[in-house]
Amino acid sequence: MPDETDLPQHPAQHAPQQAEQEQKPDLDNLPEDFRYIERLVDEPVPDDEQVRQETEQAGEQQPYIAFEHVCKSFGDFHVLKDVSFFVNAGETLCILGRSGVGKSVSLQQLMGFYKPDSGRILVAGEDITDFNEEQMQLIRRKVTMVFQNGALFDSLSVRENVAFPLREKDKLAEDQIQQIVSGLLEMVGVTGSGDELPAALSTGMKRSVAIARALAAQPQAILYDEPTTMVDPLIARLMGDLIQKLKHQLKLTSIVVTHDMRFAERLAARVLFLHEGKARFFGTTDEMKASKDEVLCQFLDLDALVLPG
Ligand SMILES: Nc1ncnc2c1ncn2[C@@H]1O[C@H](COP(=O)(O)OP(=O)(O)O)[C@@H](O)[C@H]1O
Ligand SMILES: [Mg+2]
Repeated sequence: MPDETDLPQHPAQHAPQQAEQEQKPDLDNLPEDFRYIERLVDEPVPDDEQVRQETEQAGEQQPYIAFEHVCKSFGDFHVLKDVSFFVNAGETLCILGRSGVGKSVSLQQLMGFYKPDSGRILVAGEDITDFNEEQMQLIRRKVTMVFQNGALFDSLSVRENVAFPLREKDKLAEDQIQQIVSGLLEMVGVTGSGDELPAALSTGMKRSVAIARALAAQPQAILYDEPTTMVDPLIARLMGDLIQKLKHQLKLTSIVVTHDMRFAERLAARVLFLHEGKARFFGTTDEMKASKDEVLCQFLDLDALVLPG
């Protein structure tokens, strides 16, 4: 079933006021590695322009993720035909394009779920093209993906979903795990639903929980597959705020597949526009706005109609 059934959502489910009414989690004894949660909860959303400048000045202009001439087919169907792009460390790339153009397949290749037919794929500065499953598991600790449907464990509560990566790796004490989980849930604006099963949550909340779970794994990069599709504008805004904060505080590298141009303009250093299997446009957001490419302009115009300002 598609996610539409979850609509409409009540914005109050996510509203910050609600979080304040509930008891604040005790974040005073977080382990060193997770101290950032407290900062992320307490500090205001950074100014978009400030984050942009920080990213530009970071100096570490090294591709953290790259596709080099990637081709990928399923049977006779050529999804990607010679696609190249890169994402520098600490930057956000937005991938735009119509449905079925290969956006999700691109992310899945970065995670090693599919292999390209030809071309090279770089992740975390390593050429992962020929990595085996064991090697990919190490890469997946550095780069995690937030799936379109959240891909939560249905039979585990929200809290246990988020605790999962924490239980998997470090030897954290139970009360530390619980604190981290509370902090992460607060950070993504999902408080008070910790004991629910995922099925009880709206689409937006499922995605927020998926982001909290991704962060529990302490990745260097997060790939978001359509985080704002089928959620109301307020939640889309909160998701954008969260991604900005993560970039500002943690210098997380991210790729965001989105239909929402305003989201891309706000967050992205660079944009990749996929069309008919090709990287029809790859460049900075400013270059995109100045582009005269007919197909790109048509896509952007249509998007503006779908998402009235
Ligand atoms: N495992 C698969 N087997 C066959 N075709 C697939 C498979 N995964 C994706 N595809 C096809 O590849 C194309 C790109 O899919 P996808 O990346 O999911 O598109 P989108 O850009 O909407 O995310 C689609 O036409 C889809 O049907
Ligand atoms: Mg997709």
